[in-house]
Formats: sequence, C-alpha cells, structure tokens
Amino acid sequence: MFNRRTVLAGVASLGLTLSACSKGGAGGSGGSSEGGTVGVAMPTRSSERWLTDGRSVVEGLKAMGYKTKLVYGDDDPKAQVSQIEKLIQQGVDALIIAAIDNRSLNDVLQQAADADIPVVSYDRLILGTKNVDYYVSFDNEMVGMIQARYIIDKLGLDDGKGPFNIELFAGSPDDNNTKYFFDGSMTHLQSFLDSRQLVVRSGETKLNQITTPRWDGPTAQRRMSDILTKWYRSERVDAVLSPYDGISRGVLSALKSGGYGSGVEPLPVITGQDAELESVKSIIAGEQSQTVYKDVRLLAEAAATMVDDLLKDRVPWVDDAVGYNNGVKAVPAVLLQPAGVDKTNYETLVEDGYFTAGELK
Ligand code: GAL
Repeated sequence: MFNRRTVLAGVASLGLTLSACSKGGAGGSGGSSEGGTVGVAMPTRSSERWLTDGRSVVEGLKAMGYKTKLVYGDDDPKAQVSQIEKLIQQGVDALIIAAIDNRSLNDVLQQAADADIPVVSYDRLILGTKNVDYYVSFDNEMVGMIQARYIIDKLGLDDGKGPFNIELFAGSPDDNNTKYFFDGSMTHLQSFLDSRQLVVRSGETKLNQITTPRWDGPTAQRRMSDILTKWYRSERVDAVLSPYDGISRGVLSALKSGGYGSGVEPLPVITGQDAELESVKSIIAGEQSQTVYKDVRLLAEAAATMVDDLLKDRVPWVDDAVGYNNGVKAVPAVLLQPAGVDKTNYETLVEDGYFTAGELK
C-alpha cells in the first residue's frame, strides 16, 4: 500500500523533467550562486507537520544558495497578512505561502505582484486572485480516497457487511484542501451511505455541517462528545472519518471519555492524515487506526526547486496545468503522492527517515 517508491520516482522524474524543460536562464549555469532571499509564510506552530514544513523549506532553499525569512502566522489570518506585507517591504525575491485563510490574501498578493515577487502557494491553494503563480501540494483528493478505502476495507463493506454507524469530520472551511479531502472520501463512501450499509446517526453529512474551523482538535472533541451524547446512548459508532491527525486525537479523547477503548467497547475505525508523531504512536498503541503519510520534506524540496526555477527564469515542471482552479485562473500545480499508513506498515516511516525508531517508542 505504501508507495514511497512512487513518491521518490516522482521526485526523480521531477528533477529530470526540470532540466529537460529548463530555458537555461540566468547564465544557464543551473547553479545557485547568485542567491536571493525567499520569504516563507507558514500557518501555525501548533501542529508538528508545519514545523517540519518550515524547517525543510528553509533547508532546501539554503542548500540552493538562498537566504530565507521564515514566519508563522499562528492561525491568525490578519497576522499572516501583516507578516507577508512585511516580507514584501523587506524586499524578498520570492514568496512561498501556506495560507491560513485562503481568501484573505488578495490585497497583499497584489502588493507582491506590484513588486514583481513570484508567489508559490504551498500545500493550500490560495483562492480568488490572479497573483499566485504556482501551487505545490499532494494529490488531495487521493488523501480522502485513501481514508475512505481504509474504512471500507476494515468494515468489510465490499463483502456486504453492515449496517455500520459512521460519523464524518472535515477540515477547516477556509482551507481549500478541505473540500478535496471530503469529495475524495465521498467518492468511495457515498454509495454505502445511499444503500444504508453506512448510517450517519447524527444526520450530519453535508460538508458545511461537519467542518472543523482551524482544524482544531478540541473543537472536534466537543462535536464528537455532543454527537455521542445525542445519538449514541444505545448505539455504537463503528467508524469515524477524520481528515487530519489533530482532529483524530480530539475525536479519540471524546470516544475514550464516552467509554470506548475498553475490552467491552472497542474503539471505532478512525482515520487521520499527516503521520504526526503522536498519532503514529497512537496507531502503534492500537487507538487511531490509520493516517495518511505525506512526506513534507519532498513537498518542501518541490517548492524550493520551483522558486529556484522561477528566479532563474526557467519554466517549472508541473503535473497538472488545469485541475486546480482558484476561481480566477488555473494555477499550475506539482502534486505529490500520499500513502496510507497503519499498524501493519508504519515501519516505513522509519525506513524513510521520517522518524527514528527511538522516536516511535
Ligand atoms: C491542510 C493539510 C493537511 C493538514 C491540515 C491541518 O491544509 O493539507 O495535511 O496538515 O491542513 O494542518
């Protein structure tokens, strides 16, 4: 199931294709001696993955000869706008931005365009502006599909088992990825909901009923607790679709407080995303069922390579020139492959150097 090879092959071909597509600008040397400064705006320090993202982007750019200015918006869209404004005033040569609120950046990105600063939208597509040049992310719909497929396999839905109770959680409503994750999951789950092999006791199945502002774990925990109190006094929840490890951990806390996780009442199947250390440990301990591993070191490398190309007047190689429309234009995108990880294959994270064996103990 784990497709590290695909990811690595993708990156290898990325390198090959980049050189093949190179316009040979900036003296055509391919080196990075001229350097420059790249502003990197990340959304939050409250989640482990974004710390890895920030660190990896900085390392990648440094290795290519650039200076960097890394800022974290601490989940506050206004603070992020001010940080980006400041980076523009400081004269950065390019911007890599993982948006907090994908629609709050229009004005500041106009300032970037006026100053001729190229913008790479990192992991989360920035919407509603022409002033975003490229997008690097994972195949976000695939993430949702992997999560749904896991639930289907674990419950044996293809073999006709059921009916089972499921509850659905989605990500932040202001993050464009939320819709892709949810739609990807629904591609696989919808037919089982229609046939009532899967039943959502709360009745909350529409995206706007199940989002979790700022991907906040405690918010998800409260919603899960409310659902258990209202709908599961005499019923059992068999599966929870969760789009992100932080949400999964919140849901797990609610489930445990509600009496799940003992021999009598085992925990439901519960998905996740990001292979955060705490969640991988939870998977090993038999609590969270799975996560979707996205090697953000490769994402960072793709973003750094893209900026290097842009600053050297080379045309970056992309996977998808039309599929990611931000409402104003199709933003050319590089999309890496996600992979499902559960108790049976989590060692791949160690083999891959994502965690050390010691960290997982
Ligand atoms: C999304 C990202 C997910 C997860 C989530 C919460 O934009 O694609 O992997 O990290 O944010 O941070």
